[in-house]
Parts: sequence; structure tokens; C-alpha cells
Amino acid sequence: QFQPRVFSGVQPTGNLHLGNYLGAIRKFVALQDNNDCMYCVVDMHAITAQLVHDDLIGQTRSIAAAFIAAGIDAKKHIVFNQSTVPEHAELAWIFNCVARIGWMNRMTQFKDKAGKDREQASLGLYAYPSLMAADILVYRGTHVPVGDDQKQHLELARDIAMKFNLDFADKIRASGHGVDITVGDEPVHALFPMVEPLIDGPAPRVMSLRDGTKKMSKSDPSDLSRVNLLDDAETISKKIRKAKTDPDGLPSELAGLAGRPEADNLVGIFAALADRTKADVLAEFGGQQFSVFKPALVDLAVSVLSPVTEEMRRLMQDTSHIDAILKDGGERARARAAQTMAMVREVVGF
Ligand code: ADP
Ligand code: NA
Repeated sequence: QFQPRVFSGVQPTGNLHLGNYLGAIRKFVALQDNNDCMYCVVDMHAITAQLVHDDLIGQTRSIAAAFIAAGIDAKKHIVFNQSTVPEHAELAWIFNCVARIGWMNRMTQFKDKAGKDREQASLGLYAYPSLMAADILVYRGTHVPVGDDQKQHLELARDIAMKFNLDFADKIRASGHGVDITVGDEPVHALFPMVEPLIDGPAPRVMSLRDGTKKMSKSDPSDLSRVNLLDDAETISKKIRKAKTDPDGLPSELAGLAGRPEADNLVGIFAALADRTKADVLAEFGGQQFSVFKPALVDLAVSVLSPVTEEMRRLMQDTSHIDAILKDGGERARARAAQTMAMVREVVGF
């Protein structure tokens, strides 16, 4: 068995929003009590969709500040910046040679992000999932807390790990670095673990506040579609009060949310923020109007987010503390990555 290890990353692009917080960062915090965790600001991913950024290092610091402000312990765990560990890129190259073009062609995020003129998308955007697999597997990470939008990329990471393990089976055995695991019922002598996505919870995919069929996203042109982590209480209140809903009130049971994506989304957000289940939230609010539920959601969102926001702002005033965390985290991460890469190089034959 591989040692359990949690890994996840967030891109330093645009403002963090409630989807990033509930889908990722809040889970990072919850996992840290019982796990070895590595949380990475993935700046090399940030240049795949847009090459030139005004202040990439400033954005990187602000994501790291959000991690710390949300409660991640950077001494006990590792918080770092992807580009400070070049082994990610090295393993990604090998994975580019493991992954098949047919696999990459199935990635829906590439299709979404590339838009209509796919020929003009960067090669990096196309290869993004291969770098993401390397981010995790260069630490032999086993568990990855992410939002539901990343599910397909994690399946690809498993496919890459499995193909590497099988293609190099004899060499892994000869190297003595392999670990016996079972995949399904098959015993495999593996260099890389099969990563497990951690996607569950009441809000695995937080939807836009303006359109219940689209995910809440940094790239949505409407700022009313998302609650940003740095929004003040008044702005949060305005956005939630204006959130799209249907004319019915809240149902008393889960089944009553079927076919009502906007209502389902707001109940899911409430449940995730309160660490409750949606059924439990409906038991309290069932039969009430949104005019009652929305103010309660505003209060809850403000009470959960404002301490994080304030601490984030404080940390950003003097970035030396964040820079020290990233430097120390980068060094510790690199030591781990170097161990894996020594094994990988031996197996590949470099
Ligand atoms: P974005 O998708 O906002 O550009 P990232 O790709 O850096 O941001 O994603 C950071 C994390 O936030 C990932 O784990 C992703 O799954 C999660 N995430 C992003 N948007 C949402 C959402 N709307 N609901 C839930 N999780 C989300
Ligand atoms: Na994403």
C-alpha cells in the first residue's frame, strides 16, 4: 500500500470565489487533521489559457494567503508554488509520452476553455491534464480534494498512472521501488498509486447565482454570478438577494429540489457553509419563502467568509510572511519530488 497523501492545487487566476472555497479550500482545511497534505498554487497551469499576466506572483501570493487565512497549517503541511519545483514539468513530459491523443481529445474542459477556435488554443492547454497528473503523482499523492469539474481529469490521472505501471512493469519490479496494490481485483506492482478523488459533500459543483445550469466560475463575465472571497458583506448580501430563484418556496424534502437547479444550488451552498446536509437544511427551512431563506444564507455566508477575508487582506499587506511560507514549502516539496523522480528516471532508463 502507498502511504496516504493528500494533494490539491488552485490556479492563481482571477479572484477566488465561493465555488473554489466550498469545492476545494474548505475541504483542504478539513482534511489536514488526519492526513499528510500538500496544497499547491499551480502557476504553470495559469499560463495555459492566458500566457501573459499583469501580476502572476501577486496572484500566487493571494491564493497562498487564502489557504493560510482559511486555516491551513503550513508548518505541519506543505503550501508551495508549482513552478518552484521543476520536477512537475519533468514528470509531465514523461506523462505526455504515456497519455494517448485519443484520451486527451475526450477532455471536456479543454473543449470549454479552447472555445470555438480550437486550432488557436495553446499546446499547454491541451496537455493541462497531463501536468495535473504529474502534480499529484510526483508526490505519489493518493487523495485529491477537488470540485466536481475536475472529475474527468482525475480519471485521466488514473489512466496515466495505470499505463505507466503496466508499460514499465518489468522495470519497476527490477528497480525494487514498486508497491503491491490491487486495482479492481487485479494485483499490480505499481510505481504510481491510483488517485482517489474526494468530491463528495452537499455542494460538489457550486453553480452560478445567475444561471443554475452553469458552474460558478472566475471567468464568468457577470460579477453577480459569483460570491468572491474578497467581497465585503454588503456585496455578498446584494449578490445573494439578487440570486435567481423560481417562484416556489423551499420544499421540505430533497425530492422537492429536483428540476430546480437554482433552489438546489442555494440549499447546497447553505449546507456546505454550515457543515450540514441538504436534508437537514430543508427540515429547518421547508415551507418558507426565499425571502426568509436568502437573508439567513447571507448571514451564514458573511459569518463564514469574513474572518477568512480579513485575514487574507492582513496577510497581503506584508507579503514577506507568505513568501517565507512558499519558499519553505517549495524546498520541502522539492525534496519529495526529487525522490520520486530518481525512481522514475531509473525506470524509464534516463
Ligand atoms: P477555476 O475553476 O475557478 O478556474 P481552478 O481551476 O483553479 O479554478 O480550481 C480550483 C479548485 O476549485 C478545483 O478543485 C476546482 O474543482 C474547484 N472549483 C472551481 N469552481 C468550482 C465550482 N463552481 N464548484 C465547486 N468547485 C469548484
Ligand atoms: Na477548474
